[in-house]
Amino acid sequence: MKAFRAAILRFAPDRSAIYEEDGLLVVGPDAHGRQRVQAVGPWRDLAPRFAQVPTEHWPARLLAPGFVDLHVHYPQVDVIGSPADGLLPWLENYTFPSEARFADPAHADAVAVFFLDELQRNGVTTALAFCTSHPASVNALFERARQRQLRLITGKCLMDRHAPDGVRDQTEQSLLDTEALITRWHGVDRLGYAITPRFAPTCSDAQLQGAGALARQYPDVWIQSHVAENRDEIAWVRSLYPADRSYLAVYQRFGLLREKSLYAHCIYLDDEDRALLRSTGACAAVSPTSNLFLGSGSFDFEAADRAGFGYGLASDVGGGTSLSPFHTMLAAYVVGREGQTKKGLSLTPQQLWWRHTAGAAQALGLEGVVGNLQPGCEADFVVLNPAATPLLARRTAQANSLDELLFAMIVLGDDRLIEKTVISQAAV
Ligand code: GUN
Ligand code: ZN
Repeated sequence: MKAFRAAILRFAPDRSAIYEEDGLLVVGPDAHGRQRVQAVGPWRDLAPRFAQVPTEHWPARLLAPGFVDLHVHYPQVDVIGSPADGLLPWLENYTFPSEARFADPAHADAVAVFFLDELQRNGVTTALAFCTSHPASVNALFERARQRQLRLITGKCLMDRHAPDGVRDQTEQSLLDTEALITRWHGVDRLGYAITPRFAPTCSDAQLQGAGALARQYPDVWIQSHVAENRDEIAWVRSLYPADRSYLAVYQRFGLLREKSLYAHCIYLDDEDRALLRSTGACAAVSPTSNLFLGSGSFDFEAADRAGFGYGLASDVGGGTSLSPFHTMLAAYVVGREGQTKKGLSLTPQQLWWRHTAGAAQALGLEGVVGNLQPGCEADFVVLNPAATPLLARRTAQANSLDELLFAMIVLGDDRLIEKTVISQAAV
């Protein structure tokens, strides 16, 4: 066992933050050797019980759950900041050409290493990621994540139509590849597979049908896709699927809405769609920096809360502009503020933080596993230095409440705030 003495942030079941100004986090192996939180609370209460446990003291530092990024494209680190007149030209002119390079395993491997380094530098310890359509891109990311013992969920992008040579796959082979990758990777160490139809416009009926069949055959794997992100995209889906009530309903018809399914964006939904998310247990990956950058539109937080479906925050790099959870939380705040009709704070700092940690974990079906520092959780955490920059130091020193402290970090924070990212290890 090992203990860490510092300020500690975690979340109660009612989603409120619990903050220990002088706390103790005790981690130790479970029956399989995996490091989990064994105890957490005020240092003065726990210190006598754990006096024999080697303790690292981090004065003026804050331990918090590692962040959970619900939607990110690892092959898109090289297209961040590519300007385009909306989603569809952005895909055609930048994204597909860049993704075509991942047919080369050496390129896929080099980018996987860079991407995982960046996640860790930004304090992200769990991610649901897109690969490209090339199985080599999936093998590269899983292999590198496994070496680091990261909790990572990803899958081969399915896209058998309306996409150029070099990224377009073939229906039957794409489904065979998916099944082989599930068998090879799902449940290995901390890795999970996600069946990954890119979005309805680039998947034939037969491919969506096959994806739905695999989702039924492997109920424990995740599903990820995009929905209702952009007006031109929606008009395209309507022309391809005129008989379906909505874009989301297409995925429903093919059996792709269920628990452990995550849909990026969810901007242009109506209340019937929102009720469908809620009743199926499908969740939204809200990607505010991407929606702002691509001019897609705004997620309606109030309508989501009224409908009661699950959602969490995501970078959506490379449509998104940053891998930093602080940037994503700030963008979510700004968008929520802009759209708000009620009095009061649209999204409080505690809600924003929860949506990028414990709430995102809940959307993945990983509540109590990651995204929190309650006893039993896997010991993935970040060490924050609230004095990492002169302005952060000045502002956080004057915080008079937990909300003020969290807000100062959300507004002023970036990778410099993350002093260290600790990944739960297992004894070999
Ligand atoms: N829709 C289909 N593919 C993509 C993608 O790569 N990024 C975003 N933002 N939306 C998509
Ligand atoms: Zn995306």
